[in-house]
Amino acid sequence: MPTTATSQLITSVPATGPATGPAAGPADRELPLLRLGRGADPQAERGVSCPGELPPQSDPALVRRAEEARARLGDRAFVLGHHYQRDEVIRFADVTGDSFKLARDAAAMPGAEYVIFCGVHFMAESADILTSDAQRVILPDLAAGCSMADMAGYDQVEECWETLGDLGIAETVVPVTYMNSSADIKAFTGRNGGTVCTSSNARRALTWALEQGTKILFLPDQHLGRNTAVLELGMSLDDCVVWDPRRPYGGNDPQALRRATMILWKGHCSVHGRFTAEGVTQVRRSIPGVNVIVHPECVHDVVLAADQIGSTEKIIATIERAPSGSAWAVGTELNLVQRLANDNPDKRIVFLDKTVCYCSTMNRIDLPHLVWAMESLADGRVVNQITVDPATAAQAKTALDQMLALP
Ligand code: 13P
Ligand code: SF4
Repeated sequence: MPTTATSQLITSVPATGPATGPAAGPADRELPLLRLGRGADPQAERGVSCPGELPPQSDPALVRRAEEARARLGDRAFVLGHHYQRDEVIRFADVTGDSFKLARDAAAMPGAEYVIFCGVHFMAESADILTSDAQRVILPDLAAGCSMADMAGYDQVEECWETLGDLGIAETVVPVTYMNSSADIKAFTGRNGGTVCTSSNARRALTWALEQGTKILFLPDQHLGRNTAVLELGMSLDDCVVWDPRRPYGGNDPQALRRATMILWKGHCSVHGRFTAEGVTQVRRSIPGVNVIVHPECVHDVVLAADQIGSTEKIIATIERAPSGSAWAVGTELNLVQRLANDNPDKRIVFLDKTVCYCSTMNRIDLPHLVWAMESLADGRVVNQITVDPATAAQAKTALDQMLALP
């Protein structure tokens, strides 16, 4: 079973307030929540089996409370929603987007006292870095992390950089980190002359990086790095090596590191990594003429087998522009695919592979958590604030600003 049957699990948990922030108030006692560090949630482990269904809807009676809290907050709050969020949450978003658009939108709202981020932790960290000191970024559930971002630890990355230095190649290497990384990895990237990228600007980021140096250390998603280098920049698979942080020299021959143009961190998305080329073959068999569109976090074989590749924003735009009557198999997170199917009734839209799970961490943000966060803020209690320490934020901002300035 996947993770987020929060509303079922939480009722027996004493509502003793959030893991961080001030003491609990009335909203805490009334809302059934299991917040980070409170009680046990044995079903919230990563790597669980996936029935290919969305998590159950939260109590619809909470909608009215959410509307009231949102109205009380007014212009003091700005709610950002990533495309993978549940319908019950996304309906309260002032803007929706992929991670690039949301980073830009967060930076463009200097008037909002609270930026409520319905997404995952690395996105909220980036929003904190890009917003002013007076603004507070709130993540309604602190357990909304990203398993991919967790795959690149700061010490591991520093160790890799040191090894590349010992081999005499660090000065030719430009780090490029995917937005899906912690603030300290972004700071490492900024400090070493690199850039952040997202799935919608990875080609531009790699092109820029190869104008600054001759090699790229791409963190932490090997698949986005490989797919972009090979399919968009025309490199060969032999130009890429994978750096496994658990092995000496990342598991490579030092000569191979000297030869490679792309040093790809051994990280991946546990959701997109489950789509298979066999799944593409099967869907083509069952729906003749189907168009297959996948996110670039999918493995290289899947991307090769697909017709199109794109960020969540591009997937949405492509399907919205597609002719009526066309059929699409979509290889990305299930909430988005289901929403695309609902919003485009004139087209046939199916999930690429029924055995793939929704993103369990994205789905930690549910209506109870959003209501709790908004009611708390409206009552003057700041909960689940995400803050990046100033030194890390300054260096990470260099890399984020570089991304926002990419030609
Ligand atoms: P997008 O930048 O395409 O929204 O992707 C973010 C993400 O986490 C995909 O798994
Ligand atoms: Fe992270 Fe994958 Fe979830 Fe995106 S879909 S937030 S990369 S685990």
